[in-house]
Amino acid sequence: MTNKITSLSEYLEKYQESVANPEGFWEKIAEDYYWHKKWDKVLEWNFDEPNVNWFQNGKLNITENIFERNLFMRKDQTAIIWEPNDPKDETVKLTYGELFEKVSQFANVLKKQGIKKGDRVTIYLPMIPELAIAMLACARIGAIHSIVFAGFSANALADRIIDGTSNIIITSDGGYRGTKTIPLKKIVDEALEKCPTIQKAIVYKRTGEDVPMKEGRDIWWHDAIKEVDTECKAEVMDSEDTLFILYTSGSTGKPKGVQHSIAGYMIFAEYTFKNVFQYSDGDVWWCTADIGWVTGHSYIVYGPLLAGATTVMFEGVPTWPDAGRFWDVVDKYKVNQFYTAPTAIRALVAQGNEFVTSKDLSSLKVLGTVGEPINEEAWRWYHDLVGKGRCPIVDTWWQTETGGIMITPLAGITPTKPSFATLPLPGIQPVIVDAEGKELKGNSVEGNLCIKFPWPGMIRSTYGDHERCRQVYFSQYKGMYFTGDGAKRDEEGYYRIMGRVDDVINVSGHRIGTAEVEDAINQHPKVNESAVVGYPHEIKGSGIYAYVICDELSETEIANIEKEIRATVTKQIGPIAKPDMIQLVSGLPKTRSGKIMRRILRKIGEGDATNLGDTSTLLDPGVVEDIIDGAKVEVKR
Ligand code: PRX
Repeated sequence: MTNKITSLSEYLEKYQESVANPEGFWEKIAEDYYWHKKWDKVLEWNFDEPNVNWFQNGKLNITENIFERNLFMRKDQTAIIWEPNDPKDETVKLTYGELFEKVSQFANVLKKQGIKKGDRVTIYLPMIPELAIAMLACARIGAIHSIVFAGFSANALADRIIDGTSNIIITSDGGYRGTKTIPLKKIVDEALEKCPTIQKAIVYKRTGEDVPMKEGRDIWWHDAIKEVDTECKAEVMDSEDTLFILYTSGSTGKPKGVQHSIAGYMIFAEYTFKNVFQYSDGDVWWCTADIGWVTGHSYIVYGPLLAGATTVMFEGVPTWPDAGRFWDVVDKYKVNQFYTAPTAIRALVAQGNEFVTSKDLSSLKVLGTVGEPINEEAWRWYHDLVGKGRCPIVDTWWQTETGGIMITPLAGITPTKPSFATLPLPGIQPVIVDAEGKELKGNSVEGNLCIKFPWPGMIRSTYGDHERCRQVYFSQYKGMYFTGDGAKRDEEGYYRIMGRVDDVINVSGHRIGTAEVEDAINQHPKVNESAVVGYPHEIKGSGIYAYVICDELSETEIANIEKEIRATVTKQIGPIAKPDMIQLVSGLPKTRSGKIMRRILRKIGEGDATNLGDTSTLLDPGVVEDIIDGAKVEVKR
């Protein structure tokens, strides 16, 4: 495989090269792709606007680089192995040739519905092959996909449709998750009541349940594909045209549509995939994420398929029919590289070792994690029990905004250390800054993590609001992209990610903005005000702790309020944002200017009130004592 680093000395050499001459470094890699026209200039940028332009004026289509570029060698090689929710159901295997046909066919369906280059297409599907087919079909015709995780509620879906101004949505009648059936079409129908821009809904039949189809708007997928052929010429796109939008939470306001462009993302997704996981031709790759999140975009679909890999897509959940499901699937398809989240590992640790020890996991060569820091205990279990001590673990740090992995070991090449993401990939220039934005040079430093030079996969804008992109990521520290994470560089120069430094909670590896959860809680008619913080949670990494002020409640209302608040949040956002702890309080610690001092609430949630800092600036210092008295966790004073 080209552009694959094979030794530590080669990594060090490439890293130096990539910093000394980033343009030259990425240009050499870009030569490997199929272009209708090559770029005039490799990079133009300034972080003040921000404006980042990679492979300027290049013309290409990402799907030609997945299909036409690979097809000669791989027409009959399996591209996607789909493992259904129920292990008794049949596996689907699609070769590169078959997938290409299906993508082209569905691209023709979209075209027939009037979808053109630059249009936004919302996709709200479960983890079925059609999700990958739909996204690649968008890319084939130059439409911008906006995939919404199928666990989001009707309200959250509607917000994302409205912000992205899509006029079409692709969904299914329902979806399976373990023993549950999720009524996706029903959720879509509810969302669409608020979305006047949507003209059409294409509905894939997955569960077969009866769903109402709205005349003139709703079309069955299986009917639509019958009317078109299976060849579709790729739309020639500009390097900097948008490939997709993906919504993610921030510390304020509604989720923002992180915008990625075609050429840079393409090159970065494949380069990081091959190098981090050391994928070799013929290997079977499995990333357990959902395509509704960035990990699925980059490491189930784009990265692996660009690299000509065989990628497993899993519809189910790790604990059904039992907690051995992951390992059954590894054995069934002889998976070589396996990539999951620390929260899944911790959940499986809690189920006992026999689910692992009874399985044949000898095919595994590399194990990866993503989404949150992996604690040492989970790391050890993963390393010793799953990897039998012979598989390197790559703890990969990155974000929706970075498009691909940034700081990570290269499997089997970079010496690892539990809970360290280790070293930056070639082309990535991380810096640690203090609160004033001064770069902390050298080793043994801790501060906020920024990136000081553009990389091809980086965020280009936030959809419909470029100013927000500037403010959130490029205004805090001049001339740098600010990640929102704290990090430490140890005495060896290894990076350890310390977690978010903003009002974002990382729940089971998913980003949830405290402001969003508060807005949702406040929708409950009895709630006056709320404040939400993260607290340490054994399985989820961080749990959600909500301090809530309510109107006067009757005894029955008190008995029901927690359940009702959780239901309100589920309705507004989705079950992932449900608070784990809800404490009714009579007041919140506020400064005289009315700002909630979350630091104090966070400390109480962590169970440690020994060092609350200066509370004298509070409007009413007495509320703190009351909150500690009524805390849902044991609090050390
Ligand atoms: O806080 C970091 C954490 O997840 C955040 C990014 O979340 P999201 O955009 O949803 O993407 C998740 C998957 C790429 C980061 O700001 N994070 C991600 N990976 C790690 C991590 N924290 C520690 N270690 C990691 N390996």
